[in-house]
Amino acid sequence: MKIFHVSAECYPVAKVGGLADVVGALPKYQKQLQNEVKVVMPHYKTPFANKLDLQTIFIGEVYLGSTLYTYSVSHDSKNTLGFELYLIDIPPFFNSENVYEYGNDAERFLVFQLAFLNWISETGQYPDVLHLHDHHTGFIPFLIQNAYVYQNLKHIPTFFTIHNAQYHGSFGFDKLHYFPDFDHNRIGMLEWNGQINPLAAAIKNAWKVSTVSPTYLEEMTYGANGLEDLLRWEKPKSIGILNGIDTEVWNPETDTLLEHTYSIKEYKKGKEATKKELCQKFGLNPQKPLFAFIGRLVYEKGADLLPHTVSIALHKFPQELNILMLGSGDPVVESQLRDLLPFYKGNYNVHIGYDEKLSHQIYAGADFLLMPSRVEPCGLNQMYALRYGTIPIVRRTGGLQDTVVDIGDNGYGICHVQANVEDIIRSIERANELYQDKKEMEKVIKKAMKINNSWEKVAESYIKVYKELTQLIADSW
Ligand code: ADP
Ligand code: GLC
Repeated sequence: MKIFHVSAECYPVAKVGGLADVVGALPKYQKQLQNEVKVVMPHYKTPFANKLDLQTIFIGEVYLGSTLYTYSVSHDSKNTLGFELYLIDIPPFFNSENVYEYGNDAERFLVFQLAFLNWISETGQYPDVLHLHDHHTGFIPFLIQNAYVYQNLKHIPTFFTIHNAQYHGSFGFDKLHYFPDFDHNRIGMLEWNGQINPLAAAIKNAWKVSTVSPTYLEEMTYGANGLEDLLRWEKPKSIGILNGIDTEVWNPETDTLLEHTYSIKEYKKGKEATKKELCQKFGLNPQKPLFAFIGRLVYEKGADLLPHTVSIALHKFPQELNILMLGSGDPVVESQLRDLLPFYKGNYNVHIGYDEKLSHQIYAGADFLLMPSRVEPCGLNQMYALRYGTIPIVRRTGGLQDTVVDIGDNGYGICHVQANVEDIIRSIERANELYQDKKEMEKVIKKAMKINNSWEKVAESYIKVYKELTQLIADSW
């Protein structure tokens, strides 16, 4: 099949979170299944993009309202990522390395979608399916069905994946003039709650909607930041497909970001050496269990619970554990986490910022990974942790519920029900007990490392649904 993925992020070109990991991996695995796969994204000036050997293959023009912009499409001539990568540049919109700029993202991502559609429409490229990710690409299904200029694309099936229904990207009707002419009887298909809402527009107009875990598919119908009714209504065309992980990038045996690699069979030496290095770097004690957090410091991740958790845990068990955090986000949480540093020196440290290499070292060197998320559509961190023999401590929600089985049920993780400090502390207590029982800990680590969450298992599920969509067209002829 000919598949186009359109996304705001793709690892390693530009990454803010898990969306990038998914779009950097799924296409590779789909290609291995003998499909022709292309990924299209904005041309941010990230260090990785700057190093690519890019060939400009198309130059076009696009209107955003009454302003005409020149855009260019370039292709990574070396296919560095294992699939075809296309970058769209539209000066002055993607001049920096920032994926999101917040102030003018409505304009940036709308003009990106229009340039993408102009390009495929003018060059007559008709993929079998357009797979669109998150609200940054959410207008595409509406535009190809309703904008007069894209009538030649109308027959292309659109498959839209919701990675996180908390973020809608909505804006006011004062920006309606940005859109090319369309049938105004259909204006409701753009709207939710009095606003132009790209996530709602995608859910209404896409042929098929998916989200990244079966449990989150259910959860969205009662928690989607205001879109619950719409998601209930569109449930018949929606499906939950659990994300996989790229087991070529996330492999403790071959990970190029680790000094000490290790296999399931002989994990101890490499894992202990990595822990020792980490502990040295952050002034922690490698003899004690190391609890870590990696992620965006936002409310959905339960980040606001972390400072209190650190205080309580280190008061309760001052001699028993270490805590290390890596993340950035809410400035209040960032400064609270920093403020704790002098009080718990030797037991606690935090790195505020984004650091891919350090994240790999933490997945490998930590004993436990904390994920007290309030909302977690899928979550990749827990799957990376498992593969590196680090036991996830998760709140039962979304994809965490679908991927982590509690040790009490013969599993390989520690689960709690509430997103509150008491539940996290109770889980830390259970983790400490497990850590003290060396034999049991070893058994759980091995079980965790054996779990297969590779995309290899999942990539086919998407192809199956794409085929159902193309069959719909065949049947209508
Ligand atoms: P989300 O996409 O909601 O942030 P996921 O669990 O799907 O959550 O994916 C998060 C991805 O981002 C993982 O690859 C994780 O390792 C990475 N990540 C998050 N914060 C950081 C950070 N501060 N430094 C390095 N990697 C990070
Ligand atoms: C979103 C979700 C996260 C998911 C990721 C990839 O960012 O918050 O749970 O794993 O997308 O689908």
